Amino acid sequence: MQTILNLKPESERGSVPEDESSLGFSKIFTDHMFIAEFKDEKWQNAEIKPFGMLTLHPAANVLHYSQEIFEGMKAFKQEKTNGVSLFRPEMNAKRMVASAKRMDMEPFPEEDFLDALQQLIGIDKKWTPKSLGTSLYIRPTLIGTQGMLGLKSSDEYLFYVILTPVGPYFPEGFNPIKIYVEEKYIRAVEGGVGEAKTGGNYSASLLAFKKAINLGYRQVLWLDAKEHKYVEEVGTMNQFFVIDDIIYTAPLDGTILRGVTRDSVIKLAKDNGYKVKEEKLTIDKIVESTKSGNLTEAFGAGTAASIAPVGELFYKNEKVIINDFKVGPTSKKLYELLTGIQYGRIEDPYGWNVLIK
Ligand code: COI
Repeated sequence: MQTILNLKPESERGSVPEDESSLGFSKIFTDHMFIAEFKDEKWQNAEIKPFGMLTLHPAANVLHYSQEIFEGMKAFKQEKTNGVSLFRPEMNAKRMVASAKRMDMEPFPEEDFLDALQQLIGIDKKWTPKSLGTSLYIRPTLIGTQGMLGLKSSDEYLFYVILTPVGPYFPEGFNPIKIYVEEKYIRAVEGGVGEAKTGGNYSASLLAFKKAINLGYRQVLWLDAKEHKYVEEVGTMNQFFVIDDIIYTAPLDGTILRGVTRDSVIKLAKDNGYKVKEEKLTIDKIVESTKSGNLTEAFGAGTAASIAPVGELFYKNEKVIINDFKVGPTSKKLYELLTGIQYGRIEDPYGWNVLIK
């Protein structure tokens, strides 16, 4: 697809703040955005233009019936070469197509997706921070824009990509966080949209999230919808537990997001001698195994959050402390391997890093 370039003059462009420790998560955006329209049955009008507001029809499908999907990806400054690399972008391109199909939306073609990222990040590269824990976070988004209130899938879509330099997602950095196990509300049901990266999954989580935050917890751990006993995922991460030296995570059964970091962690763990099982675990087993000393570590894995050690679970009015609220050796090793590859500090035997040309 041909992209029109409508760029800011060099003199008006910004760059990443010198004090990268002040970045936080997504407080500022870069100079440009990519945008393309689907109308008259084809993708057209691809453009890279100055970052700015969108104008939508007040009856746009996304505003009423929530045809919306997005991706979360990161680009990292390479320590040795100073280049900027995307991490496994083809996984996000594929997942976005799968999410679009589930939500009956028009997918943005995978090849054009990767091309758009190359072009946009190529232009705004100097916004990529360099310190450990920072990156350029990428948010590709697809919304239904047709303005009409009859309930049906939109005939028109907008695909856009925005970029934001970020620091660690959690203020704790790479230190244990506290997690609230939600007993009443659920995130996803079998046959529902839990596997799709659609905004509705996140808005449905916000009430429980607020409750958790008010009680001093950082995230919510979701249980299955039927029996409220199997552990599914955490707000922004897939969840892992180490029991008797085996790393467990919930299987991809349709209610769980197919995390790119989840997949990377599983590969890294297996290739570094860990045993990994994708198996359903009950919250009761997790609590019992922690008390008996068999569960030695817990950590979450997600694009925004990277790897986040978990030091406490709150379940049924009880605080369950994991590994004395310390970072465990498995989380540490996997964090070092993952970030080592992402920042180009160690060899990337998988070809996961894709250099911005
Ligand atoms: C990500 O990890 O990239 C996500 O999309 C989660 C988001 C809610 C921050």
